[in-house]
Amino acid sequence: MQTLRKAPMKVSIIVASLLPEFGIGSKGRLPWHLKKDMKFFKEVTTRTVDQNKKNIVIMGRNTYDSIPKRFRPLKGRLNVILSKNADEYREQLKSELQAHPDTLKIEDSLEKAIEQSKLLHGIEEVFIIGGAQVYNSAMSAQGHIVDRIFLTKISSPVKVSMDTFLKFDAEQWEKRSLDDLEEYLKSKGLGGEFQLSGNKEGEFEYSFLLLENKK
Ligand SMILES: NC(=O)c1ccc[n+]([C@@H]2O[C@H](COP(=O)([O-])OP(=O)(O)OC[C@H]3O[C@@H](n4cnc5c(N)ncnc54)[C@H](OP(=O)(O)O)[C@@H]3O)[C@@H](O)[C@H]2O)c1
Repeated sequence: MQTLRKAPMKVSIIVASLLPEFGIGSKGRLPWHLKKDMKFFKEVTTRTVDQNKKNIVIMGRNTYDSIPKRFRPLKGRLNVILSKNADEYREQLKSELQAHPDTLKIEDSLEKAIEQSKLLHGIEEVFIIGGAQVYNSAMSAQGHIVDRIFLTKISSPVKVSMDTFLKFDAEQWEKRSLDDLEEYLKSKGLGGEFQLSGNKEGEFEYSFLLLENKK
């Protein structure tokens, strides 16, 4: 008799990027303010199929520092912040860590953060949420760290000032169909919640894509 094997925990990148440059940031901030994309980010990273589980968001220290204090740690998710100087950063965030002992953690390497995540009970998915240093090291790491990318693909007819970019190797990623993305959203109770293509806010047009690691 065949035994059912539990699906391994997926590790995903979630990122909004302006193509063709693959820009993601400007002066330490996002170069845009896209309401529906913010909602997509919040819902996808927070919702779970199993109501008893939570997701993990992993981010670099600069990205965490750029979140207004009243919004951090990001609610409903376990926040793991990366710093090579983890002890020094722990000291700096001492009061925040004391206030949120179960939802805020600091690790000194991405690999360790992912390994630790896989050992925790009650975790459904891991999302790498930026910034550039973390995205780029996750995508270029040896071995298979990232399973898929939730990419908000942005375009603009006017020039957008950007200073932070993804090193994106198109060869490594395969685009999944919009039906696959919709099915994933549906599994989390988000069916029909988002228009996947042709969104427009100000000068920005954007679509939500799901890419899978070919490896
Ligand atoms: N468009 C998007 O979807 C999106 C999403 C998130 C962020 N962003 C943008 O990205 C920009 C920030 O990116 P960034 O590259 O400056 O900062 P970042 O990746 O958020 O943080 C960099 C810092 O994180 C730590 N770190 C990074 N990788 C690490 C690793 N593998 N192991 C241990 N520590 C690690 C280091 O801290 P220490 O120096 O303390 O060692 C490093 O200085 C901003 O403009 C932000 O708005 C865009």
